[in-house]
Amino acid sequence: MKLWGGRFRNEENSLMEEFNSSLEIDQRLYFEDITGSLAHVKMLVQCEILSSVEGELISDGLKGILADIESSELPIEGDYEDIHSFVEMNLIKRIGDVGKKLHTARSRNDQTAVDTRMYARKKAREMVEVLEAFKQVLKDKAEENPYIMPGYTHLQRAQVVTFKHHLMAYYQMFNRDQKRVQNALELLNENPLGCGALAGTTHSIDRMITTQELGFTKPVDNFMDGVSERDYVLELTSDFSIIMMHLSRMSEELILWCSQEFKFIEIDDAYATGSSIMPQKKNPDAAELIRGKTGKVYGALFSIFTMMKGIPLTYNKDMQEEKESFFYAIDTTLASLKIMTEMIRTLKVNEEKMRASVKQGFLNATELADYLVKAGTPFRDAHSIVGKVVIYCEDHNKGIEDLTLQELQQFSDAIQSDIYEYIDYDSILNKGTKVHLR
Ligand code: ARG
Repeated sequence: MKLWGGRFRNEENSLMEEFNSSLEIDQRLYFEDITGSLAHVKMLVQCEILSSVEGELISDGLKGILADIESSELPIEGDYEDIHSFVEMNLIKRIGDVGKKLHTARSRNDQTAVDTRMYARKKAREMVEVLEAFKQVLKDKAEENPYIMPGYTHLQRAQVVTFKHHLMAYYQMFNRDQKRVQNALELLNENPLGCGALAGTTHSIDRMITTQELGFTKPVDNFMDGVSERDYVLELTSDFSIIMMHLSRMSEELILWCSQEFKFIEIDDAYATGSSIMPQKKNPDAAELIRGKTGKVYGALFSIFTMMKGIPLTYNKDMQEEKESFFYAIDTTLASLKIMTEMIRTLKVNEEKMRASVKQGFLNATELADYLVKAGTPFRDAHSIVGKVVIYCEDHNKGIEDLTLQELQQFSDAIQSDIYEYIDYDSILNKGTKVHLR
């Protein structure tokens, strides 16, 4: 069923009809589509393009459709081209010929543009909220677990950090992610409704009315831009890709940390699964899935970039294809954030195991060098002296702190008995900028 057909002599090929239909994908825009139409009708009445009786009939019809969709009385299905056609044709079915006036001074181009913007806005706001909840959980978990642990570079034990500082690093990432989405929200919140197909309309409409009605900050400045720009979709999908990248890095750490090799944490049973053959296995599937889905969100981003790159102004049908990728990115990022939030909230941290790992790997070597520098040794010389201490420790299977003062003094007579306090893993965190790790 179509909204057009007047200028066609022959029927559309059935394969083409199916190929052209986006209803399965864009049906989720039903709320935005009907809300946009209600605002449009209100404006048409206020501008005296429709009578108030006509406006009321159309608005009541639209509200009825909305209620029936939400109560599942009216399933969104059938051979409609898209959600816009579905709503309009159902309206005409319900209220008769007056329904045919809804589309006055409007095109599906500005209609789909306004629907998509409103949906993007709604989901971006939800993303900001979900990020806020996640940040709170990260902060709480960090505060509860101020324990020392090895910090890594190149995945080699490097220096002492705390679990708290490690988690708060992610807090900073997700805090910036949240700001990025908020920035995107500010930029996208302009109203494309009223741009018409691409060149406005000969009707004297008032775009400020729909702008206010739909909660936009202003109407878009340029009609051709308004109907054909999707950079906000790209911007949000980029933001979601960055969120997924951060989640994926975090997932990778959780996967490592819950392995037998690390055993720093235990993931709650609710976010793990077993093996069909190996009875002892508890696999961190939730984290692995997030890591895996990250690639698919990047794929969504690149499919939209590629789809947009050759499109001349203004609307071209290619743009219908962006929605599937955009929706995938939205759904996956929201779900991944929610799963990660719960995974972190229920996570158990193994303080003992982290402390034991700190003891292996010479995580106080830099501090021994700092000590020598304070005693007057140039840093480069101190670095080389400590290197030799480390070889000695490896040969004797000892930590630096296990060496006797005599052993240590073989390497430098600047070393005194206060060295043990200086390189103690806990007291390291009382010195210099390291207090910030606590
Ligand atoms: N379903 C279409 C889309 O999402 C609606 C716009 C159709 N416009 C047109 N000129 N055929 O892009």
